[in-house]
Amino acid sequence: MSTATGAIGLSAPWLDERDEELVLEVLRSGRLSLGPMGPRFEELLAETIGASYAAAVSSGTAGLHLCMRLAGVETGDEVITSPYSFVASANCAIYEGATPVFADIDPRTLNLDPAAVEAAITPRTRAIVAVDIFGYPCELDELRAICERHGLALVEDACEALGARYKGRQLGSHDHPATFAFYPNKQITTGEGGAVTTGSAEEHELLVSLRNQGRLETASWLQHGRLGYNYRLDDVSAALGVAQLEKLERILAGRRDVASRYAELLAGFDLELPLADDAEHERSWFVYVVKLARGIDRDAVIHRLGADGIACAPYLPSIHLQSYMRDRFGFGEGLCPVSEDASERTMAIPFHARLAREDQERVAEALRSALQ
Ligand SMILES: Cc1ncc(COP(=O)(O)O)c(C=O)c1O
Repeated sequence: MSTATGAIGLSAPWLDERDEELVLEVLRSGRLSLGPMGPRFEELLAETIGASYAAAVSSGTAGLHLCMRLAGVETGDEVITSPYSFVASANCAIYEGATPVFADIDPRTLNLDPAAVEAAITPRTRAIVAVDIFGYPCELDELRAICERHGLALVEDACEALGARYKGRQLGSHDHPATFAFYPNKQITTGEGGAVTTGSAEEHELLVSLRNQGRLETASWLQHGRLGYNYRLDDVSAALGVAQLEKLERILAGRRDVASRYAELLAGFDLELPLADDAEHERSWFVYVVKLARGIDRDAVIHRLGADGIACAPYLPSIHLQSYMRDRFGFGEGLCPVSEDASERTMAIPFHARLAREDQERVAEALRSALQ
């Protein structure tokens, strides 16, 4: 997958003959939805993660929305979450009429700072949406203890973190609801798609009903026991998911190798590299995000690399500063200074499991000259 002089994209899914084979199997079966491939994907996913239950859904966003229903989030509630994330981890609360409350992040991990979370709790707080940003596990034990102390629901947004481990156990196997996403830049892809894992049979039953228009397992097709959604994952997508999970170990290993090559190539550059793992946190590599030194013109750097055919992106903006969030909730600068500082200086560089060494060398060279 070398492109000696061609364009180097930000991400790329790993698709091969096995993906084609299983997708074709579904097409030839004529069962494009609610066929056997959905449960096959869910079983394999639950087994891979070590989760009791996995419910496939049509996107990570859909999964997070359903988690808000599981948590009983209602109009007037507050949901504490990270400002340094993709917007869906905050939007899901708004879908249910709740207000997102942003607690600042830890500058090292870029995940929620548990002390900031605790300080943000009010009598209206109903849930915490904890994000594992860039595949780095958040402080699950501390956040869970806060939830227990204050009677709150814990929802994990593990959309970027399939395969990551916290204290030795894979994310998604810690019993509270955790959402994964399978957009093509993720560790595995189903095109669009996602899944929610949980350790609770009741929560799983509710997820399965909610994603399927509120149908009850016991009732017929046009009997609906509750307000639900069409958040089902179709069987073509599930087939891709099965093929992807079959090679998950190779995908994760490839991503680890690419990340460690970047760490070598970028050593000594005037920028901060992603945080290394420790005994409690094992990252699943999602994107490769570097933090530029203060005073460097990030847009100019991105532009310089773009001119060399190398795609980079400012990554991630702080959610509370998005225009619709400012307009609706009155958020502004200074609310979460650590997140805002990270947002001004972080950028993603090309990253995927089969990124060629020569391409990484080109990225490093271009970055070196842009930073001079
Ligand atoms: C942290 C986070 N949460 C939620 C989502 C939403 O997932 P999807 O795009 O599948 O709806 C994403 C995906 O980009 C994400 O990165």
